[in-house]
Amino acid sequence: MIAPARAVRGRIQVPGDKSISHRYAILSALADGRSTIANYAPGADCQSTLACLAALGVAIERPDGPGGIVAVTGRGLAGLTPPSAPLDCGNSGTTMRLMTGVLAAHPFPSTLVGDASLSRRPMRRVMAPLTEMGARFEAAPGDRPPVTVHGAHLRPIHYRPEVPSAQVKSAVLLAGLQTDGTTSVTEPAQTRDHTERALEAFGIPPTVDGRTVSVRGGQPLRAQDLTVPGDVSSAAFPAVAAAALAGSDVTIDGVGLNPSRAAMLDLLRRFGALVEAQVTDIRHGEPIGYIRVRHGALEAVEVLPGEVPEVIDELPVLAALATFGGGITVSGAGELRVKESDRISALIGGLRAMGADADERPDGFTIRATRQLAGGAVDAHGDHRLAMAFAIAALGASGPTTIAGSEVVGVSYPAFFTDIDRLRA
Ligand code: S3P
Repeated sequence: MIAPARAVRGRIQVPGDKSISHRYAILSALADGRSTIANYAPGADCQSTLACLAALGVAIERPDGPGGIVAVTGRGLAGLTPPSAPLDCGNSGTTMRLMTGVLAAHPFPSTLVGDASLSRRPMRRVMAPLTEMGARFEAAPGDRPPVTVHGAHLRPIHYRPEVPSAQVKSAVLLAGLQTDGTTSVTEPAQTRDHTERALEAFGIPPTVDGRTVSVRGGQPLRAQDLTVPGDVSSAAFPAVAAAALAGSDVTIDGVGLNPSRAAMLDLLRRFGALVEAQVTDIRHGEPIGYIRVRHGALEAVEVLPGEVPEVIDELPVLAALATFGGGITVSGAGELRVKESDRISALIGGLRAMGADADERPDGFTIRATRQLAGGAVDAHGDHRLAMAFAIAALGASGPTTIAGSEVVGVSYPAFFTDIDRLRA
């Protein structure tokens, strides 16, 4: 149950970045030697990636438990061993899609399974290019999980995906890394570039030419000692709370400020919030710094289709912000319907249940800031970002809100409710 808040104030750190943690774990597993990863994301998604790698013969040490240092002893390119049981990706689409790329280059069959939410998500987008490279697949109807990958000796391709997706780009590049010759991906729009930066950190700089990324396969990766920055997508929740509530002032330290993830900060400014963001360090090619957000009078914001890929994970919490004043119109965001839940209908349904004046469309939604939310009862729909977005919206309601299934925040931000409570002024 979330009670309304007057303001939020203080300094916090958010957990390690989920996208970067997956990539560091996977590249460490494909490298020669023992890598260490500090500030590895503590959420269930990144634990799923470690569990899959362990089931493929990778030695993983986690002396401090979730959130501590992880040591990964790599097996070299195409060095994973056949699993004895299906690989459980839990709720994590990134685990399933990236591991599909890794396993496509291993000459044995492996089956990837997921929870009810992941089992509804489309996998054709990775199966198509990897089939072109020479792998073979079996999947449930509609090309959904479980997915069985029959890996093979692959050939390089130049792939042009129709959907902008960092997961698709990364799956193809991870397969290409283990394939002789040069594999390229030309994206329809810029997506997060953590794979490219991580490859460079492991000693295999890819070639980037506009929206085309190329990697030459067969080059060994060198083990690394890595530190994961704080997750800017997790930081979006306290940042929005600060933007939303008058008198708020929140600083988030040690957070990743990669430009392909930071568009959310510009949107907060367009809403009227006072935002400072400063890079203080660059680690393994990833900029790190702090974000300070203070409330300002809120205005209406329109998110255009071309802007969607860089704020795709932040749209639920930006919708929550729109209920405090201003409002929002989002279009060209049909991808939201195939995330951990149908993030258009579940988001708009939940915000309406709390009293919002909102409508959905096939590829987006509109929220009009005509009245204060009342609060009420909503369901997280098994989706961590919806649970957290509803919790932030609930801070501005006139009464309390209950969120059924709220424990799902553990997928990316286990300490979310404690952190928000600590910031209440
Ligand atoms: C991710 C890419 C995005 C994003 C997801 C994480 C990644 O998905 O929504 O949360 O780590 O590559 P898509 O590739 O499906 O856009």
